Amino acid sequence: SFPDRVTIYEVGPRDGLQNESAIVPVEVKAEFVHRLAAAGLPIVEATSFVHPKWVPQLADAEELLTFLDLADASVPLPVLVPNERGLDRALAAGCTHVAIFGSATETFAQKNLNSTLDGQYAMFEPVVKRALEAGLDVRAYVSMCFGDPWEGEVPIDQVVDAGRRLLDMGATQLSLGDTIGVGTAAHVGALIDAFGAAGVGVDRLAMHFHDTYGQALANAHAALRHGITTFDASAGGLGGCPYAESATGNLATEDLVWMLTGLGIEHGVDLNALVATSVWMAGQLGRPSPSAVVRALG
Ligand code: HMG
Ligand code: MG
Repeated sequence: SFPDRVTIYEVGPRDGLQNESAIVPVEVKAEFVHRLAAAGLPIVEATSFVHPKWVPQLADAEELLTFLDLADASVPLPVLVPNERGLDRALAAGCTHVAIFGSATETFAQKNLNSTLDGQYAMFEPVVKRALEAGLDVRAYVSMCFGDPWEGEVPIDQVVDAGRRLLDMGATQLSLGDTIGVGTAAHVGALIDAFGAAGVGVDRLAMHFHDTYGQALANAHAALRHGITTFDASAGGLGGCPYAESATGNLATEDLVWMLTGLGIEHGVDLNALVATSVWMAGQLGRPSPSAVVRALG
């Protein structure tokens, strides 16, 4: 059986844009976020307070948030923070929702965070502690949950260990990232089951699929069957991680919405408004959306 209702956690403005080499004007990013919220997305990850040299596209994070007026925003607009410097910036900007992002593998911790796998926990611990003290909501990502471009297939218990350590710091939700999109449906089920056996129920998990191998929607279907009710997705299928070889676009929000509607699962998103937003964004970026649903309806 399937859940009656699913929460779509929109990551287009952050995961979708972070890999774009041509800098998108801040006004365009602000309009993107506004249009996504207006289309019914209940939460929209807006940007990252990471080092601007590491992700130049998101160097305008402070400026973007002044355009977005967090106090007035109709939906939560979480931001990524890797360290205390990032949290300071997020607090100064008035953020109410932050997300830390750990790795399940040694190599990606080094490539993405310039840290060892163990060192990432020391980096995140004061971030989570201070964020919770300040009354913020904290989400945790764990990347490379299925495979890693340098280390190959990632053992399930290694992922569960990393995820539990991040959750145990006090995060409310753990998003399991298939950063390079190599996962397949049976592996998805086995990972969710392993978290369950380790005491982490589906109510605390979200799934974050990339569509590199065309498996994102099949994987989302498998996760639904296992009771997952939060899915990360990116409008128009934008996305990729600049520090993960071969990572391409995220699961397209439109593709997910189409499947959920067909299954009779509530999601609250206006598909026409969403497609119009992705068509507009594709025009801004100068190339068509890779989403099959955007192509069919746009
Ligand atoms: P580092 O170079 O080791 O940083 O980078 P550091 O702590 O040694 O500091 C060096 C300098 O950077 C210092 O300045 C710091 O103040 C400054 P100086 O004293 O030399 O003038 N600094 C900062 N400035 C602004 N904001 C900050 C910040 N931190 C330090 N937050 C660091 C370490 C973690 C900062 C770096 O590796 C980084 O920014 N990494 C982010 C990479 C990233 O954003 N990747 C993409 C997101 S993850 C993803 O996409 C996966 C996900 O989608 C899920 C999935 O698909 O699996 C979430
Ligand atoms: Mg991602």
